[in-house]
Amino acid sequence: MKRHMHLNLFIHSRGHHEAAWRHPAASPLSLSDIRYYQALAQQAEAGLFDSLFLADQLALGDDIAYGPRTALEPITVLAALAVSTSRIGLIATASTTYTEPFNLARQFASLDHISRGRIGWNIVTSWLAPAARNYGGTAQVSHAERYARAEEFLTVVRGLWDSWAADAELDDRAGGRYANPTRIQPLNHEGTYYRVAGPLNLPRCPQGRPVLVQAGSSDTGRAFAARHAEAVFTAQTEKTSAQAFYADLKARVVGAGRGTDQALILPGLSPLIAASEVEAQRLSEELSALTNPDVGRKRLSGRFGGHDFSHLPLDTPLAPDDFPAPSTVEAARSRTEVILELVRREQPTLRQLLARLAGARGHHTCAGTPEQVADLMEEWFTEGVADGFNIMPPVLPAMLEVFIAEVIPLLQRRGLFRTAYEGETLRAHYGLAAPASQFSSPTLGG
Ligand SMILES: Cc1cc2nc3c(=O)[nH]c(=O)nc-3n(C[C@H](O)[C@H](O)[C@H](O)COP(=O)(O)O)c2cc1C
Repeated sequence: MKRHMHLNLFIHSRGHHEAAWRHPAASPLSLSDIRYYQALAQQAEAGLFDSLFLADQLALGDDIAYGPRTALEPITVLAALAVSTSRIGLIATASTTYTEPFNLARQFASLDHISRGRIGWNIVTSWLAPAARNYGGTAQVSHAERYARAEEFLTVVRGLWDSWAADAELDDRAGGRYANPTRIQPLNHEGTYYRVAGPLNLPRCPQGRPVLVQAGSSDTGRAFAARHAEAVFTAQTEKTSAQAFYADLKARVVGAGRGTDQALILPGLSPLIAASEVEAQRLSEELSALTNPDVGRKRLSGRFGGHDFSHLPLDTPLAPDDFPAPSTVEAARSRTEVILELVRREQPTLRQLLARLAGARGHHTCAGTPEQVADLMEEWFTEGVADGFNIMPPVLPAMLEVFIAEVIPLLQRRGLFRTAYEGETLRAHYGLAAPASQFSSPTLGG
């Protein structure tokens, strides 16, 4: 069978463009109205997307006066979407820095039951500095410590998900036996950051464990992804850097003893689609005209852990020296690398850089016809750049609708995308193996 690309819909605000929330083509619904997310999920399912994804931040942005980010808490939203859809995979972000592994293991296992096996967890360490102050801390937990914690957190969560054998729940009403305790094992984890006895207090979930997704692309982030991630989201401005990332991460996955097809790489793509290039360009300018450079400056500062860019003039070409070295940034380190690479390559003015970042925060943006978008996707997919895409419509729902109506049929005609769902679970859509269990199969005498 011909290899198919995987498509994830990244739902963010009323679209990924910084000004989307106020554009006339954006949804009229409030961002705290669940019907907004339900409608998008149902549209994406009709378009046969593998999955959808919700990001999360654990603090209110200081730019809230000028634009929203996330509104509803994603795990809660996923529960609602699980009962409003039947096939599409559902991925929520949750932090390893600011939650307890037992809570998270229960929540995601419960969601996997509620959705009948369609859940993924985007494992983040939370880069946004002000989050620390909402969880008893005073300062950002360092990049290195966040990843060290994440490693142990994951060991615990995986252990908890694996603490029940698939056949442990008997539910034998006639015989009066609900569960077989010999098929439920405690965890007894005692590590640097966590002490967790286990076992989990609910039966093994339909997928064995939810799909593990990861989106950190620094050196430490890549090492973590190579060991654990089954799907990887990444921000790449250009094909060459995306290709280098793809080759590097796949090599690391092999180095970690895993098959390359067991870690899908899905770079972000934010396509502005119109009937002609001229119309796409006009839309792009219309959106740019709605942005505010002060908001862009604040967001840039947030990416660099609060670094002050207020002294930089808007219309002078930037140099790498205008930015702190990424290795010193304790926030979104890999995104600062993406931004610096762009500055080195193109020497934009601050105004131009902010306009680029307003498009999709450092992810790849394009503006063109459906054919041009499909061509780009085919090129990246067939030339070792991507296993599929994290689709980030600049305006929602308008640019999702046109993507589904115009681009997906082109991909299908070229044999690059499914024409019907074949499996029932997110693992099946992504072509991932069932996770190993610590329990031997009962048919083999375990
Ligand atoms: C598509 C995508 C989505 C992300 N979503 C979140 C998110 O919801 N919350 C968060 O704290 N970080 C998010 N991140 C950031 C990463 O998870 C990571 O924390 C950040 O890039 C810093 O780690 P790094 O230096 O290893 O890249 C996202 C990154 C990407 C590429």
